[in-house]
Amino acid sequence: MKRAILTGATGYVGCHLVDALAHRSVEMVVVARPTTLADAREFIHSRGAATHIVDYARGGEVREAFRGCDIWFHLIGSIQRLRKDPFEWRHREVTARLVAAARKERVERVVFLTALGTSSRANNIYHRTKWEAEREVLQSGLAGALVRPSLIVGRSVGPRDSKLVMRYIRMMRERGRAVVLGHGSNRIQPIDVRDLVECMIKAAERENRNVAVYELGGPEPLAFREFVRRLGQAIGQHVPIRSLPLWLAALAARWYEWTREAPPVTREQVALCRVDNVCAPDSVERQFGFAARPLDESLATYRTERDGTK
Ligand SMILES: NC(=O)c1ccc[n+]([C@@H]2O[C@H](COP(=O)([O-])OP(=O)(O)OC[C@H]3O[C@@H](n4cnc5c(N)ncnc54)[C@H](OP(=O)(O)O)[C@@H]3O)[C@@H](O)[C@H]2O)c1
Repeated sequence: MKRAILTGATGYVGCHLVDALAHRSVEMVVVARPTTLADAREFIHSRGAATHIVDYARGGEVREAFRGCDIWFHLIGSIQRLRKDPFEWRHREVTARLVAAARKERVERVVFLTALGTSSRANNIYHRTKWEAEREVLQSGLAGALVRPSLIVGRSVGPRDSKLVMRYIRMMRERGRAVVLGHGSNRIQPIDVRDLVECMIKAAERENRNVAVYELGGPEPLAFREFVRRLGQAIGQHVPIRSLPLWLAALAARWYEWTREAPPVTREQVALCRVDNVCAPDSVERQFGFAARPLDESLATYRTERDGTK
């Protein structure tokens, strides 16, 4: 791996990946948008990566950024519902455009960060459109990997963090309580961002000629409610955890989606609470040969309060 192109690397996971690649002296070009926040651009610059600005929404040309790269890390995606940025566009269409550019510039390998639970029959549009984006990569003729993690946690570098974790930390610190959707009995399998990035780099370095699919989670599958309790414990907030009935959450989601550009509760979040998001507990060790960090070690990174995290 000599020169990497990264798309979607201005977010939480991306900044950790940029940092890890910089430590391995990989030359990098990061594709950002005109709207990308300045702190992310500054961070990327500080790690020696070049930035290539593309306005995807206006058909901006991205092909040049792929020139001379031997690996493409594709991280674009989000569960956030935004009226101006529909899921179909963000996941399927943007991926299709990038695949075309990669093919034209003869980039042969890709590592695509998608999500555990993608399926054409998933109960939410986030997972369905992520699945469609996966098809674009699988049918492209590129070799490499699809990496499907459960919830990603922990923070060691960069100006971004997990939006979900940040929302719960704020809720607990500012309101002295936490609210889970339903009973919070849906199971998740949080994986440390540093372990995930390590797996992505190892996947990039493999020489498989197909697209390997890796489902990844940390060593401890647990109910969402228990995750919130452990997060509270890690940051010294032993607050009560209340349940919001799913029917009420679904109603609130409809209302917020109708009235707000960036709704605080969405149909996707409600749908995700109805299903487990787990895989084998030894998924990292079995597929990548190292032991994933225990959950409490990841959560310990939230002990220090940071200002201005987005
Ligand atoms: N965080 C998790 O727990 C989790 C779990 C499973 C899977 N994933 C997947 O992992 C990937 C990275 O997640 P993250 O937590 O790092 O997300 P993030 O912090 O929200 O970063 C998202 C990245 O995607 C870019 N992006 C979003 N919409 C775009 C669009 N319409 N066109 C072009 N670029 C767009 C953002 O660019 P700007 O900086 O310009 O906004 C940013 O670089 C995502 O694909 C996500 O679905 C995350």
